[in-house]
Amino acid sequence: MTILNSQFIYHRKELAEEYCRILSGRSPVNNATSGLFLAAPRRTGKSTFLRQDLVPEAENLDWLPIYVDLWADKTRNPAELIAEAIAAELDKHAPVAKRALRAIGISKVGAAGTTIDIGDGKSQGGITIGAALKKLWEKLLKPIMLVIDEAQHALTTPEGDKALFALKAARDELNQEAGKGIRLLLVMTGSSRDKLTFMVANRKQAFYGAEITRFPLLDDKFVEAYAKDFNQQFNTAHQFPLDAMKKAFELVGRRPEKFRVAVSEAVANCLGPDGLAEMVTTGAAKLQQAAWDEFSNSYARLTPPQKAVLDAIARLTPNYEPYGAEAMEAYQKVLGSEPNSSTIQGAIKALQVRELVWQSARGSYAFDDELLRDYYLRQMYPEPPNLALAEQSARACSQ
Ligand SMILES: Nc1ncnc2c1ncn2[C@@H]1O[C@H](COP(=O)(O)OP(=O)(O)OP(=O)(O)O)[C@@H](O)[C@H]1O
Ligand SMILES: [Mg+2]
Repeated sequence: MTILNSQFIYHRKELAEEYCRILSGRSPVNNATSGLFLAAPRRTGKSTFLRQDLVPEAENLDWLPIYVDLWADKTRNPAELIAEAIAAELDKHAPVAKRALRAIGISKVGAAGTTIDIGDGKSQGGITIGAALKKLWEKLLKPIMLVIDEAQHALTTPEGDKALFALKAARDELNQEAGKGIRLLLVMTGSSRDKLTFMVANRKQAFYGAEITRFPLLDDKFVEAYAKDFNQQFNTAHQFPLDAMKKAFELVGRRPEKFRVAVSEAVANCLGPDGLAEMVTTGAAKLQQAAWDEFSNSYARLTPPQKAVLDAIARLTPNYEPYGAEAMEAYQKVLGSEPNSSTIQGAIKALQVRELVWQSARGSYAFDDELLRDYYLRQMYPEPPNLALAEQSARACSQ
């Protein structure tokens, strides 16, 4: 095999080891044998860590890691993606005889074909998620670590919601049998703490009571490792100005991609170390500003009821209820009067279409991008925008 190692990856082996200890109940300070729920903002390196560090660490420990990214294909039902990832492992390790599949009425099978029933009508006749995981364990006799990336997406369909319950039931069944130890370890990550909260904060949700842990953002050590790699690769005449780079990394929300863009632009254009430092910093600040400007432009195009709903969601999530008293009070503050339910409904729909607001299958709502929510609230704090007043003064000016 030829491997092209073109991209710099900063590994976080110690963090992976710690999470594995926590998952298996061997940490002296913190345990998550019911599941580890990790949240960090977009593009900060969650998936890279899961794939490059956590999965290999599980393999080191002789566990079976199964990784599934629910954003891998947003057009597919998240439950289908979870079921497929488990089925693929089962096909690899314990293929089901075609004869047996036909006997239970599954005829459309490929080379090997476990079908898992997710309750969508199409997968009827397949085995349950729990049975599939149990079978896998019986075949391999090793702990299974199921890593679900962007797990909050499962909440967006009824089947996804059911799959989460099935996983919880499987976890309880597999882990509570005396003498067999922990057999199913669950790791769920999400790019919005608010959205992940819906999985654990509500009594009606599968993982009610579980804790959400903030997944640590990459730190200065990433910048130091990046600098080392950068200097080696480019053998540049410029010294990599470490302090300025650390500041720049902070400015781009500790997002490696944006940081890389800022660094390469600066390298392409500048003359010396001081210039490099300054350009990286301004480049980073510009990138941050661009994200805010994009949001401000979309915001400016919203109708007053849409702005009122967005404001209520920003302030009240995870307790926002579209027609609840608190929400009504929040709308009133922005609009000067209470909107009726069809206006609220229409506004929510429009905000979803514009990808400013996210909705779960059970009707929970959140600001789609958590960082933009923070930005919005910083602009509108403590008082929400008063659109009724703004309209009055606009009228007064034009008279
Ligand atoms: N440890 C790392 N070392 C080097 N580059 C990294 C590291 N982690 C992330 N990156 C880079 O940052 C970008 C985003 O990483 P990744 O996709 O892992 O983030 P994410 O948090 O899963 O993003 P999303 O919210 O879109 O799912 C990618 O270009 C990736 O190569
Ligand atoms: Mg990701």
